[in-house]
Amino acid sequence: MNIIPKPNKISLLSGKTPYGADTVVTGAFPMAQATAKELLAGKKGCGASTLTFREQPELNAEGYTLVAEGSDVVVGASTEQGAYYALMTLEQLAVEGGIPSCRIEDAPEFSYRGFMLDSARHFWSIETLKRYVNVLSRLKMNVMHLHLTDDQGWRVEIKKYPLLTQKGSIRRNTQISLKGYNRGKEAHDDQVYGEGCYYTQAELKELVAYAKERFVDIVPEINMPGHMVAAIACYPELSCTGEATEVSTRWGVMDNICCCGKEDVYRFARDVIDELCEIFPFPYFHIGGDEVPKTAWKRCPACQDAIRKLGLKDENALQGYFNGQIAAYLKTKGKIMMGWNEILDGAEHLDPDAVVQWWIGRRGNRQEKEWLRNGGKTVLSYSDYVYMDHPYHIRPLAKTYSFGLKAMGIAAGQKVLGAEIPQWTEYIPNEKKLDMLTAARLAAFSEVTWTEDDNKDYADFEQRLEALRGYLKEIGCNVCMQELYRGKIKPRFAIGAQLKWALWHRDVHYEWNRVKDLL
Ligand code: ACM
Ligand code: ZN
Repeated sequence: MNIIPKPNKISLLSGKTPYGADTVVTGAFPMAQATAKELLAGKKGCGASTLTFREQPELNAEGYTLVAEGSDVVVGASTEQGAYYALMTLEQLAVEGGIPSCRIEDAPEFSYRGFMLDSARHFWSIETLKRYVNVLSRLKMNVMHLHLTDDQGWRVEIKKYPLLTQKGSIRRNTQISLKGYNRGKEAHDDQVYGEGCYYTQAELKELVAYAKERFVDIVPEINMPGHMVAAIACYPELSCTGEATEVSTRWGVMDNICCCGKEDVYRFARDVIDELCEIFPFPYFHIGGDEVPKTAWKRCPACQDAIRKLGLKDENALQGYFNGQIAAYLKTKGKIMMGWNEILDGAEHLDPDAVVQWWIGRRGNRQEKEWLRNGGKTVLSYSDYVYMDHPYHIRPLAKTYSFGLKAMGIAAGQKVLGAEIPQWTEYIPNEKKLDMLTAARLAAFSEVTWTEDDNKDYADFEQRLEALRGYLKEIGCNVCMQELYRGKIKPRFAIGAQLKWALWHRDVHYEWNRVKDLL
């Protein structure tokens, strides 16, 4: 049976059960019933049948049972969300008209099943975000993490700081190649980018409501204290030196970061959080926290003064102190702080309730493993498996599909909160390229987060992916060609593993140029 993500327990019965415009919907879960009626109305009639929703309080909140036998489909669930996921399964089964008679007992492996999209480097419209929310919910994923700010653009309206979007959303030009990187000689286009490229608070509220109906939580990320050049360009007093600067036109890690020795910075963070907490009702708030070079802090009298007065060990501890202050403030708003795994530096101050998003290996992953062993909440996003901005010939779909507890060497019984697949958009300026690099990987990742490791099988997944290609396209999930996602389109000078971090962007361009007219 062609279902993605693959259900955890499934058996095929003989015969077919009609499922279409003539199906009568009854029972519990009024929201799921309304959704079912809407979806069924768009299908052909294929004979009389009933779809009955039953409350089964003993089931996992996101799980469901589904029995299709004769002319009856019976769905059991303990929540509207579980009932909704049964409908998403039925939608995929109904591709052929009626559905194969079957018995399914299903529940997710992880409770946090996320996708991150970088709207800072390149901007994606609310319509595109809604399309992706729809795809996520069809694949039973439940988190969309929006990377809303970075050195190269600030993309969310903050009423108290209007310059952030008036000025901070715009950059003079855009780096288009890594060639000459580190020597400041990389290639740039000569076009101003980003005018009007931000979300108003009203638009985000509308997106949140749309996502909520589909059981997708939107997690906002405001990256701090690093990756803040766009904000510093608007309000230079946020940096250590206070010097004027521009929204960054280069990618990478910048030394110019927020000054954690100045009260202004803490106030700014609280003000931004105040406004965003009015928009995003979900429990998590992401503060970034990755890639924070301490060069400026080492030279800054305010930072050094703070380290002395607070009795901190060093600059890492100052970042830890900042994180602690922000986590405590978020708690007063009923929010849990989330951050990239660098928030474990200076961890003696890290709130034990924080969520660590594990994206990169450092020092043998010691800190991350220890955090997890001690029961710390963790979301797995290991870049070598799941970063989607890299080319398929370096990271074929099979590799992303193989991600999970086993791949990370995490012993069974150690609980992770979940996993998330990020899409960074430095080199993704249009939607076609976004889909090329994202859609197939999202489908694979839905199975990473939903289906238990022992039930996964890549060859079987690929067959289901191809069988559902038409369905996926209809719902806005534009899977690229098989040859590409299998990693078979290789540049003539395929690069070795050592060089991949320096040259991966070149190969993404190569793959794009080879297939763009065929997509
Ligand atoms: C990251 O990729 N810097 C989280
Ligand atoms: Zn400073």
